[in-house]
Amino acid sequence: MKRRKFIQLTGGITLLGGAVPTMFSACKKGHMGDMTDVAHEVFEGAFNVALPVPPVVSATGATLTAQKTTAAVFKGKKSDVLGYQQGGILGPTLRLNAGEQASVTFKNNLDQPSNVHWHGLLTPANMDGHPTDVVQPGGSLNYSFPVNQRAGTYWYHPHPDFKTAEHTYLGLAGFFIVDDAEEQALGLPSGAYDLPLVIQDKHKDSNNNFHYHPTMSDLMNGMTGGSVLVNGVHSPFAEVESRTYRLRLLNGSNGRIYNLALSNGAPFTIIGTDGGLLAAPETVTTILLAPGERADVLVSFANMASGAEVFLKSETFGGSEFQGKQAFNILKFRVKDGQADNFNVPAVLSSFSPVPGSQATKTRSFDISNDGGHGGHGGHGGGMAVHTINGKSYDHTRIDETVNAGATEIWTFDNTHGIDPHPMHLHSAFFQVLDRTGGRGQVFSHEKGWKDTVLVMPGEKVRVIAVFAENKGVFVFHCHNLEHEDTGMMLQMEVV
Ligand code: C2O
Ligand code: CU
Ligand code: CU
Repeated sequence: MKRRKFIQLTGGITLLGGAVPTMFSACKKGHMGDMTDVAHEVFEGAFNVALPVPPVVSATGATLTAQKTTAAVFKGKKSDVLGYQQGGILGPTLRLNAGEQASVTFKNNLDQPSNVHWHGLLTPANMDGHPTDVVQPGGSLNYSFPVNQRAGTYWYHPHPDFKTAEHTYLGLAGFFIVDDAEEQALGLPSGAYDLPLVIQDKHKDSNNNFHYHPTMSDLMNGMTGGSVLVNGVHSPFAEVESRTYRLRLLNGSNGRIYNLALSNGAPFTIIGTDGGLLAAPETVTTILLAPGERADVLVSFANMASGAEVFLKSETFGGSEFQGKQAFNILKFRVKDGQADNFNVPAVLSSFSPVPGSQATKTRSFDISNDGGHGGHGGHGGGMAVHTINGKSYDHTRIDETVNAGATEIWTFDNTHGIDPHPMHLHSAFFQVLDRTGGRGQVFSHEKGWKDTVLVMPGEKVRVIAVFAENKGVFVFHCHNLEHEDTGMMLQMEVV
């Protein structure tokens, strides 16, 4: 197909490398020359480094300082990374109670403009980290917004036009957890038994560094790396007590999809999705989680013997030309004795209820197949746009859709003729998945709640019913494969 030709023609040449300065320029030999791992294949480590848990900081008064720093990502030499704090990849877990006011000062100590997008938080337009709403090097901005939404696992990452993928890949991201009374009443595992896990893959060189020099293939498929990190560390282990844990799973990767499972075949009890608790728990053994998506699960280690080891892993999966060919371990749990928790999963989790399709006042359809869009368009930031929605690539001067504040609408993402998976993400709205036709042909357990990102595999058409927030202004919606997004697969809506 067209894409194959691109790969053969370009080899190690980067599509955008000439036009846009990259953050670290040490990888002089180019992408293929001195890399120690291969993009699509995963190389497991020894699972003998303890899993770090990002510190929790109140979101009612925090500072994030984007900067170049080093972090212990791999065994041995520290990696050059970007962090929101000195000495670390990633940022703290920001946390607050629903009803509180978030106030986070962002300082940009990078040599490029950047910003912060609060993924899953319904903020005013000027607080959303719109791609053109950036903080210049040396500058700062106080992000302040009320959080009036359900408890859940949200996150933050940069969103500058054309640079979202690079800044996020090099280390800028973090969790944003919202608590509320409805969730607290359930007595779910908390404290050390409530583990946020962000899964990301990096392409490391022989100096333990990762660079952002995507090849044409990376831009077409999404950047994938041979080293899978959890909470910023490659191949970690976690000691767990023989009891129930809450795992807040976030796929924070640029392009890789994980088919998450436990190596002993034990189930995940899904309790929440992108937008908080499900109505009732769902039990599954695999979760196909795409970039940007979250799954809030309970895992019981209660009847495992002390010393038992079980891996969080990714199983193979079909439906994609490039992904899912390999099974690999991600994180090792080692069970130790602990106090029994006598925890029973509540039969009813929340007051979530489905929005009937009849409530929608408008229907819109988006062709995300990208057939014919490859390589055809110029203009985005001086590079070549290769991904589109409805045949259009991102243009910050153009409003693509106008939506009424608070509206309920049905949006269809149509990948019927596509060959790439696309996790589609809306800002300033949550949606429910109505149906999926073609491809996998069903709505999955981890999609049965409020979502802000939904995976549309090749051959699929997914209909969602979205409820837009009351905030007016210009917001984006896009594919959360960050290479697709940065190469144009993003449009603008004005909420009026
Ligand atoms: Cu997490 Cu516009 O994205
Ligand atoms: Cu978002
Ligand atoms: Cu995409």
